[in-house]
Amino acid sequence: MIDCHCHILPGLDDGCRTEKESIAMARQLVTAGFSRVFCTPHCITGLYDFSGEQVSAAVAALQQQLDREGIALQLETGMEYYLDDFFLGRLEHPMPLGKTNLLLFELPSSGDVRMLPQAVCEIKKRGLKPVLAHPERFFAGKLQLTVVDFVQRWLTRHPADLLPVALRDVVDQGCLLQADLGSFNGVYGANARRLAMLLQQHGMYACIGSDGHNPRQAERILRDNYWLVELGCQRDRKFSCGADVGLKGIV
Ligand SMILES: [Fe+2]
Repeated sequence: MIDCHCHILPGLDDGCRTEKESIAMARQLVTAGFSRVFCTPHCITGLYDFSGEQVSAAVAALQQQLDREGIALQLETGMEYYLDDFFLGRLEHPMPLGKTNLLLFELPSSGDVRMLPQAVCEIKKRGLKPVLAHPERFFAGKLQLTVVDFVQRWLTRHPADLLPVALRDVVDQGCLLQADLGSFNGVYGANARRLAMLLQQHGMYACIGSDGHNPRQAERILRDNYWLVELGCQRDRKFSCGADVGLKGIV
């Protein structure tokens, strides 16, 4: 499986603080079934300002360490871009996921969904494919989806009219969606869980990520492997992300 979103690089952002933590998390990911990880530190102007060269160097250093430890995990470069007023400036020297043309970006929790269409358009203008990180977490707070609504929708396979319109629009525009694994087992609350299941049910996710920040949090994210198996099994059906629960069909 491929982890498309992970803060495993040590000492860069709010992810792993030390190499020891990174190695511990790498072991957890391998145990969970991952073989490839895109290392995606936050890219937030004024808070986490890293160049592509810094990320590449950090990936190479950690990879060397993992190889030395005999941990079979392939690391690749990436960033998680923050959709704020500085976003367009950061696109001048974009760092996509590894050798793909996928650009991972996130909406700040206080962000405005009206920024999405322009962001998607600007990313595409540069020949890149936008991947919106964990939309279920952002939209969960905006979507009043009760348990009754959810059960009804789940049972009736009703059209996706409860999905946020802004999200459907952005997908129509060509934006891919990345699911956080923790959303499926309730790490981010009941609303995020319901929305994640709904989006998955409608085949709207293109890839998944652990969004792991440290071994303790990763343990909670990966504790219920049911979702990993479920997502893997659905690869050729509704879940478009593929066998490697990653980027099949995209890369
Ligand atoms: Fe993240």
